[in-house]
Formats: sequence, structure tokens, C-alpha cells
Amino acid sequence: MPNPDRDALIARLPKAELHLHIEGSLEPEMLFALAGRNGVAIPFASVEEVRAAYSFSNLQDFLDIYYQGMAVLQTEQDFFDLTWAYLERAAADHVRHVEIFFDPQGHTERGVAFETALSGIERALKAGEAGMGITYRLIMCFLRHLSEAEAEATLDQALPHLDRIHGVGLDSSEVGHPPSKFQRVFARARELGLHVTAHAGEEGPPEYVREALDLLQVERIDHGNRALEDPALVHHLARDGVTLTVCPLSNLRLCVIDRLEDSPVRRMLDLGLKATINSDDPAYFGGYINANFRAVADALDLSVAEIVQLAENSFAGSFLTDADKARHIADLRAAAAL
Ligand code: ADE
Ligand code: ZN
Repeated sequence: MPNPDRDALIARLPKAELHLHIEGSLEPEMLFALAGRNGVAIPFASVEEVRAAYSFSNLQDFLDIYYQGMAVLQTEQDFFDLTWAYLERAAADHVRHVEIFFDPQGHTERGVAFETALSGIERALKAGEAGMGITYRLIMCFLRHLSEAEAEATLDQALPHLDRIHGVGLDSSEVGHPPSKFQRVFARARELGLHVTAHAGEEGPPEYVREALDLLQVERIDHGNRALEDPALVHHLARDGVTLTVCPLSNLRLCVIDRLEDSPVRRMLDLGLKATINSDDPAYFGGYINANFRAVADALDLSVAEIVQLAENSFAGSFLTDADKARHIADLRAAAAL
């Protein structure tokens, strides 16, 4: 049930967003503007037509449109504009720290240089930190429907820029592309000092979550819904305090769940798991981080303590230093007590 006091708490709480694909923040208005600026043809006549096309039955349905949308991103300025627009929305939602994903292979395979995407995104992140005080980490994802050799080539491209990239992730079509396929490239990323995370258990089975933990040695699990099917795995996640980056509106729009009432967030909290709330691809799924918090809080009737816990988990599960985590958590407790 909607609750104005709870909405006010959600609005004012400082929070971190840990699961956000920057290409998934491409709003239809910007899709049109960039298509015009770059002379790229798109198969839609209006913003309304684009929004109407955002009706998905599963992850692959969405990914087909998501990769098509990326075609309008051509120049460094395009990546800057995209990232800046996201940061303005994040600031409005009281996000104080972001750990964003980008998909280099979605760009290099279209002839857009790795450096073009990296520089535009990074320039906006630096401007956002200077101007809005939003700190950041940048995570490049490997597309799991492509080969491990292609992921290795992408890591090679990142080598001259390792002072600008903080981690690697694994995204795209999950089923049929288990974490084990990327064991060697993740080992190399870890040896290079990069943080590691992976999408697992969104559509794929609990075994994929286990593989991500055991074989890729990830620090976080992105989504993790289906881990709840395996009690031994739940025990492992709880014992090790592994952060799960749950995306409620994404789960609903990709038919991972039938209703928000089925969101795994309540069960995860009850089981002592470190769930966080995130928007995934907000331009496609109908809401940024606070909309995700409100939707899940209403559907699950979350208490004040549970909402504060979710926000606290977002800082605790970030790649920030312990001192920065502690500072943010003190701020959020003060905001919660207002
Ligand atoms: N790429 C962008 N969003 C994704 C998601 N929800 N799952 C897998 N890959 C993605
Ligand atoms: Zn995702």
C-alpha cells in the first residue's frame, strides 16, 4: 500500500546504486535526439512508439532492443550526455555513490572505439563528482553470449586504462552461458587488481550463482533471485555476507517475477542476506532507484528499519573504502532519524 511517510524516507535517504547499466539509462527522448544528431536511422516514428515497444517477455526480448538502442551512441559527447543525464536523475534521488556498468563490446563491435565510450562516461562521472558530490566506480562488463576469447580481447583493450576502470562484470543472455565459460578471464582480471562481480540467478539456475562465487570468485552477485531455490547456497551467501544487487522493476518487466509481491527482497532480508535495491536499465523498466524502492516497499510493506537496512547494504556492499562506507552509513542513519 502507498505510504507518504515511507516515500518521504525513501526520498531523503542517502543511497548507493550498485547495479546500473549506463546504456540502459538511454531515455527515448535522448534516443531520438542522438539519432538526429548522428544521422542514425531508428525503426520508430515517435517517443510514444518507442515506449510502446518496451514490452518484454524475457531477458532476450529486452536485450534485442537494448543493443539496437546503443546504435545512436557514436561520439565521446554522446556518452558524456548519456551519463550526465543519469547522474542528474541519481542526484534527484539522493544517490551519493554509483558503481555503473558499461558494455564495451556493445560499442567496439559497431566500430566505436573503447576509448570513446570510456572517455565520455568518465568525463561525466568526474564532473558529477566535482559538481554534485556523487562518487563513483566504473565496471566494464563482458557480454556472456560472446566467447571468452572476445572477453580476453576486451580486457586487453582495457590494459592501458586500468587506473580508470575499477572492476569487471558479466552480463547479457544468461541461460546457456554459465560463469564457468569465463573462468580464465576473470582470474586475469583479479590478478590485475580489478574488482569482480557477475549477473547470476536472474534467469539462470542456482548453479550459476555457485559458479560465480566458486569459479569467478566474485565479490557481489548481480540479481541472485534464483539462489533462493537452494538452501545450502543461501547459507553460503549469508555466512559470507555476499551483497546481492536486486532490481525489482527490472524483474517485473522481464517477467522474472509475475508481481512485485513476489520480489525476493523480503525473503532475502528475512534470511539475513545483504540485498540492495537498484534500477538496472531504468529507461526501459519504468523507474530510477527511488521508484524501485517505493514499488518494492509498497508491495512488500517494508518497515522503516528494512528500508534503512537496504540503503545501508548499498554502501556496505560497495567498493568504497571502509572509512567512506562508515561516513555514508553515519549520514544515512542521521537522515533516517530526522
Ligand atoms: N544487460 C543490461 N541489463 C541486463 C540484465 N538485466 N541482465 C543481463 N544483462 C543485461
Ligand atoms: Zn543488469
